Amino acid sequence: MEQIVKAANQLNKGFLVAFPTETVYGLGADATNENAVLRIFEVKNRPSNHPLIVHIGSINELENWTKDVPEYAYALARKYWPGPMTLILIRSKNIKDFVTGGQDTVGIRIPNNETALLLLKEFKKIGSGAIAAPSANKFGKVSPTSYQHVVNELSNDLGENDMIIDGGNSEIGLESTIIDCTSEFPRILRPGAISEKQINEIIQLDLNNKETEMRFSGSFKSHYAPNAKVLLDEIPKPGDGLIAMNDFVTPKDVIRIGAPENIEEFARNLYSDLRKADELNLKRVIVIQPQGDELAVAIRDRLKKASH
Ligand code: TXA
Ligand code: MG
Repeated sequence: MEQIVKAANQLNKGFLVAFPTETVYGLGADATNENAVLRIFEVKNRPSNHPLIVHIGSINELENWTKDVPEYAYALARKYWPGPMTLILIRSKNIKDFVTGGQDTVGIRIPNNETALLLLKEFKKIGSGAIAAPSANKFGKVSPTSYQHVVNELSNDLGENDMIIDGGNSEIGLESTIIDCTSEFPRILRPGAISEKQINEIIQLDLNNKETEMRFSGSFKSHYAPNAKVLLDEIPKPGDGLIAMNDFVTPKDVIRIGAPENIEEFARNLYSDLRKADELNLKRVIVIQPQGDELAVAIRDRLKKASH
């Protein structure tokens, strides 16, 4: 707790705090502090026109940061927050261009992680309570799902007043579902653990309008990629790494990196498995994609980008 109070103070002074969420670790800054937010882009090597997700602690704070929120977005928020869902909404005047890359919309999420929620609560007591945070990895690379991943990836770029909070392993392991809520019907911009089916239980998704482009970095073709070449659904050769459900038999001289027993475990371990491939200096890692709906859709989306 002491560490969380200190982290809230550091955020309020304009320093960066990497923190755990149930999806992946985020690299956070006070969403109202321009210099602090600009440092996120520097540390990540991220192009500054890529909008950031703003994390808040309670639905009551939504109207500070957004306007014209459709009723269905409130319904989604009440049902799935705190949780792995980001809503794209029209921003209020309190959200500046340096957070949204100049767009008039903002992505908002309440994460479902005890440490993250405590941090947001403490930060709300002394400051804005809004933490702008992308995943805590270098731009284009695999998102971190443990404290150690963040340390390995960013400690050279963080200063002594910045912090990394250790909150164990991310439970879900894939980034949040992003839902555009700026039209009459919502659209999924990035699949995640909140599935199409779960959204349709609340509000009919816009099915005619799937292809409209929005500027979001997950839409860049190569993303979430390790150094090893990721190949999908190929027969692994000797010396290749392999990630596949545990009933898939490892061929001779292939290095088995991941053997999850179910889809949830596949998602939870995917990014650390891809990092393992790099630690082992593998040139190629073969991933046999999981079949099915819901979380498997999000896994295949990330694999497609990792393999590009
Ligand atoms: O699970 C998550 O969403 C994690 C944790 C830390 O919350 N965050 C995360 O952030 O994945 P990031 O920046 O790595 O990916 C967020 C995505 C980016 O593709 C970004 O472009 C998109 O959200 N995004 C943010 N604001 C947006 C907006 N106003 N319109 C469209 N896309 C937006
Ligand atoms: Mg990211």
